Amino acid sequence: MISAGSKIVRIAVVGAGFMGRQHIGFIRGSSRAELVAVVDPRADALTGLDCPVFSETRSMLDTVHPDAVVVANPNAAHVDTARECIEAGAAVLLEKPMASSYSAALRLADTVARQRARLLVGHQRRHHPAIARARAAIHAGEIGQVVAVSGMWSARKDDAYFTDTPWHSEPGAGVTLINLVHDLDLLRHLFGEPAEVQAMSSRHARGLDVEDTVSVNLRFESGVMGSFLASDAGVSPWGWDQATEDAAAFPFIPDMDAYRVVGTRGALSLPNLARFSYDAGVSPDWHSPLSRTHLSASPRNSFEAQLDHFIDVAVGAAEPLISAADALGTLALVEAIASSARTGEPVDLARFRAALASRAGAET
Ligand SMILES: NC(=O)c1ccc[n+]([C@@H]2O[C@H](COP(=O)([O-])OP(=O)(O)OC[C@H]3O[C@@H](n4cnc5c(N)ncnc54)[C@H](O)[C@@H]3O)[C@@H](O)[C@H]2O)c1
Repeated sequence: MISAGSKIVRIAVVGAGFMGRQHIGFIRGSSRAELVAVVDPRADALTGLDCPVFSETRSMLDTVHPDAVVVANPNAAHVDTARECIEAGAAVLLEKPMASSYSAALRLADTVARQRARLLVGHQRRHHPAIARARAAIHAGEIGQVVAVSGMWSARKDDAYFTDTPWHSEPGAGVTLINLVHDLDLLRHLFGEPAEVQAMSSRHARGLDVEDTVSVNLRFESGVMGSFLASDAGVSPWGWDQATEDAAAFPFIPDMDAYRVVGTRGALSLPNLARFSYDAGVSPDWHSPLSRTHLSASPRNSFEAQLDHFIDVAVGAAEPLISAADALGTLALVEAIASSARTGEPVDLARFRAALASRAGAET
């Protein structure tokens, strides 16, 4: 392990597509990191990176010996690549989803635990200041007892997203694993583990092998009720990517919300942190006017904050905010959603997780 006093962490990026290039930009912009290599099977086509480029991960690890690796290759390659990097002693920032199936994610979580590896899963939204502020407000009872949450992520992806990159429309992708997985991570972070889920999904709008739209109902162990709609076919201003300035690729719509949380004493929308509550002295019920104020949080880009945290994890100065074991819970929820959408039956999460774990155990 590199010493906590080291100034510059030597980071390699595996996968130089849409997301990998963003990571490269953030690493270049950090005073605490140095980009030491990029890996991509299309190495010959990569230009202007100004660092050694490799066509496969093993030779990069053997040659460059990076302190840390950002893994941003297609979902199906995540587990094998992350394990290779862990075996080589590197800290890993692994893009979401951690794996394209629960059983593969469980294998990786086992490796991380056995090797005491430093692995952070790339659910960058958790690093957004609005999430820490909202979580504190929710846990401090600032809107009373939370009753329910409703959320949406819908954006119309361009057709080239699917035609130019075949894995985007193959099993292991789809709006649930590519997009909704971030929202599921946040819902678990804010409201705890879900106890029960019901879901419906559709391929109607795009006609691909993977779903383009999914509707989910949740009951959390805390009693909070939830609903979420996600679609990569429907035009909309509602979703985290439109409501934050995290990714320059998505035009920002100020003061937009993606989640609405209702409590017994007020309501909170995210990520704009608008809080609705009754004024002191009025009857706290539906006949009284609601005042709107905004909770404050210092703005910060989630990816920059994530990289800073990853550097802390790499030097052993912090535990990962999203560990492999934590992200495994989100993968279980993804599979429960798929199962409910397939069978039309609600899924009891505790029983479902136990069945997944025992099936994975029988496979090994
Ligand atoms: N955190 C986020 O908000 C976010 C956003 C988009 C994508 N992602 C994730 O990032 C990852 C990459 O997505 P993308 O949209 O950039 O995909 P992409 O297809 O644009 O890029 C993937 C790149 O990986 C390369 N590649 C393929 N197999 C490889 C291998 N075995 N080793 C190394 N490189 C390999 C491809 O040539 C390509 O350049 C996915 O896991 C995706 O889910 C995360």
